[in-house]
Amino acid sequence: MSYTLRPLNLADHLHLLALMQATARYLARNPGLSFVAEVADEVVGCLMAGHDGRRGYLQHLLVLPAYRGQGIARALVDACLAALAQEGIAKSHCDVLVSNAAAQAFWAHLGWARRDDILRFSVITGGEDNA
Ligand SMILES: CC(C)(COP(=O)(O)OP(=O)(O)OC[C@H]1O[C@@H](n2cnc3c(N)ncnc32)[C@H](O)[C@@H]1OP(=O)(O)O)[C@@H](O)C(=O)NCCC(=O)NCCS
Repeated sequence: MSYTLRPLNLADHLHLLALMQATARYLARNPGLSFVAEVADEVVGCLMAGHDGRRGYLQHLLVLPAYRGQGIARALVDACLAALAQEGIAKSHCDVLVSNAAAQAFWAHLGWARRDDILRFSVITGGEDNA
């Protein structure tokens, strides 16, 4: 893997701040539904979850490369689904990029059904385009 390092600048700071504020708002709106996995006080995985009162939504699943293949992602998914179930949510969705074949295989392996009958339409009404 090749990468470059450069000084953190103000634009990065504002971007990171906006990201953290968005995450803080998300967690405040969906308390107790998102989880991290820790190994010796280091966060090695995370998964965020929320719901709209009817359906759950799982987002931003990530396990650090060195910790993959040990069941951490499965445990995070199970934890989020259990927390959603506590709130009466019995069906959940997860968006996966078409280009992320590995993630598609992961969700399929866990028994999640791929939907080919839904297309997502998005619009930007202000701020930045992050996804
Ligand atoms: C996808 C990801 C979260 C999996 O994390 P992980 O901790 O290695 O997964 P687990 O060890 O919990 O695997 C659970 C099961 O899924 C299987 N699995 C894991 N990755 C898989 C893959 N890419 N394809 C198919 N099966 C996979 C495991 O073999 C395991 O099977 P088992 O329980 O039947 O033995 C991790 O590779 C990752 O962070 N990828 C980059 C970020 C990403 O793409 N996130 C998803 C966005 S939608």
